[in-house]
Amino acid sequence: MADDAAFNAAARAGSMRATRPSKPAYPGFFVTFEGTDGSGKGTQIDLLVERLRGEGRDVVVNREPGGTPIGRQIRAILLDAANTHLQPTAELLLYFASRAQAVEEVILPALRAGSVVISDRFTDSTTVYQGAARGLGAEVVELLDALSCQGLVPDLTILLDIDLDTSIARAAARNAESGSRETRMDEESREFHAKVREGYLALARAHPERIRVVDGDRDSESVAREIAELLEGSPGGNGPGLRG
Ligand code: TYD
Repeated sequence: MADDAAFNAAARAGSMRATRPSKPAYPGFFVTFEGTDGSGKGTQIDLLVERLRGEGRDVVVNREPGGTPIGRQIRAILLDAANTHLQPTAELLLYFASRAQAVEEVILPALRAGSVVISDRFTDSTTVYQGAARGLGAEVVELLDALSCQGLVPDLTILLDIDLDTSIARAAARNAESGSRETRMDEESREFHAKVREGYLALARAHPERIRVVDGDRDSESVAREIAELLEGSPGGNGPGLRG
């Protein structure tokens, strides 16, 4: 961890500052879903995709980590429960490696072609899981975002917030049911997951225009309705938004 502290100190002092490129212009719309494990993102993304496609929109879905073939290989390393010795800095860089690939290969081309891109997680996940819960700090995440994301910032972020115990129980039930080995992050302590949730809520308070908190402890239809309203009300980034 000493190296991480030195890295953050250098980043704070400005000796490693990377300026984020300006936000790219595109006619599409970029929406991200964030939340603790088991917050219902998958269900809500499926419902939104169905709804938008029903309205005749082109929709492209990305997942992090793992939205591209290379990203899926990186995902396997990141989530394999056997990789208990993965270093925090290596973990951080792998999440950004998957993201850099997805931005270039999937997200930006789709936005430039006018599609709605829905990403299951993006840099906010890294800010919260690695920056806050893992303790690597926000500066290093900003630095790597500037390097990896070509200035891309979501036009709208839906933060699905659910009670911590429900989140932990749902993630455990899902893993037991699927027999998944992709459980390395889920196996973190309750304290880690509590920091993730608090980190998300703090991030939402810091970016109230972009990040909208949606209570996920309700039936999925009510949650979906609220998300649809948020999308319709969003002006979009520097494109026409969904109303354009
Ligand atoms: P996944 O199975 O996709 O979980 P979920 O369905 O909850 O999204 O696993 C992704 C895991 O990786 C999840 O525990 C969150 C974590 N993660 C990070 O720690 N940092 C990141 O930058 C990202 C994108 C995910």
